[in-house]
This record gives sequence, C-alpha cells and structure tokens, in this order.
Amino acid sequence: MQDMMNRLYGIGIIPVVVLDRVEDAIPLAEALIKGGLPCAEVTFRTAAAEEAIRRISEAFPDMLVGAGTVLTTEQADRAITAGAKFIVSPGFNPKVTKYVLDKGVPMTPGVCTPSEIEGAMELGLDVVKFFPAEPAGGLPMIKALAGPYVGVKFMPTGGINAKNVRDYLAYNKIIACGGSWMVKGDLIREGKFDEIERMVREAAGIVKEIRG
Ligand code: 3PG
Repeated sequence: MQDMMNRLYGIGIIPVVVLDRVEDAIPLAEALIKGGLPCAEVTFRTAAAEEAIRRISEAFPDMLVGAGTVLTTEQADRAITAGAKFIVSPGFNPKVTKYVLDKGVPMTPGVCTPSEIEGAMELGLDVVKFFPAEPAGGLPMIKALAGPYVGVKFMPTGGINAKNVRDYLAYNKIIACGGSWMVKGDLIREGKFDEIERMVREAAGIVKEIRG
C-alpha cells in the first residue's frame, strides 16, 4: 500500500478515464505514458473497462493502471483479475473495502465526511479519496478534515481541473488528484490522442512546477 501511495504521489495526477471502446485502451495508455502521467483510473462504468485494464496492464506492465467506480466485490474481483493495481470507489463501502484490502490490493474509497474517514481508518486506511472534491467543499474542507485526522492523507477527485489543481497539489496532505479534464470522453471517441497527450503533458508540468 505504501509503495503504491509513493508512486501515486510521484505521479501527482491520476487521469480518470471512461472508455467506451476497448480498442481505445492502448492508444490512450500510450498518450498517458508519453505525456508523463503513466497512470489511469479506468472506471467500471462501461462494459469495456475490464478488458481495457487487461490490455493496458499486459502491454505496459510498469504503468499504474487501476479500476475506479468499483461498487461490488464481484467488480473488484474482475478488476483485480484483469490486472488492476489499485481499486477506487466513489463512496465508502466497508464490505467492498475490506474485501479488496484482504486480498492485499490497495484500495482508496471515497469519503466526504468525518464519519466516513473514521470508518476507513477502522479498516486500517490512512489514505482516502475525497469525493466529490469541489462540490463537497474543496481544499478548505480537506484542510478542516485534516485537523483532527492528523495521520490521514487525501486523493481529491471531482471538479478538479488545470486551473484549480495547483492549490490542491501544494497542500502537504494531498497524495494525488484525480481528474478527467485531460482525458475527456469526446477526445477519446474522436481519436484525438495527440491532443490528450498535449493536455497530459501540461498536467504533468503542473505537478513538476508545484512539487519539483
Ligand atoms: C469521476 O468519478 O468521474 C471523477 O470524479 C472525475 O471527476 P471529474 O470529471 O470532475 O474530473
């Protein structure tokens, strides 16, 4: 878990991807790697997600490909078997979270309240996703939550973009930010992988600018 968090900290921004077509998986992964964010949270919102994770993890074993929007233990099993190196969920489901952690796979469930943080801590977690970050109070809310929970770090996702990501990255309780702004569905559908690579490079540049 700690290794994974160190790697995610080093990358700084996790592209959150919705893939409709399995064929887009490899060109998308290439754009992410070339752009400098060798990481993806492939959301289990589409039928293509499982096979996309399989193809990416086989073609690029060093890339940090994980599964997002994992809502059930059955989805978690499919994601892990396909090669997902980490699991993310929008909310905190203790059953799914414990199931994944018991398999030795890093899991970052979503929280946006103190009670949910305490539930995650009870399962041994010290890193949580903060979702939906901007509507739920953004950085001021994370700072308020970090007050009592001194050992907890956050991965904010939801409403983060090239304009506001700097502030999040500059705060020392943030491991990485998730966001879809550089991998928008229409760009993927239209095969605009050069444009994706350009926006990924810009995002990677922001991480470097803020964190060195
Ligand atoms: C999601 O689950 O879709 C992520 O939170 C991405 O949010 P964003 O599209 O606002 O970056």
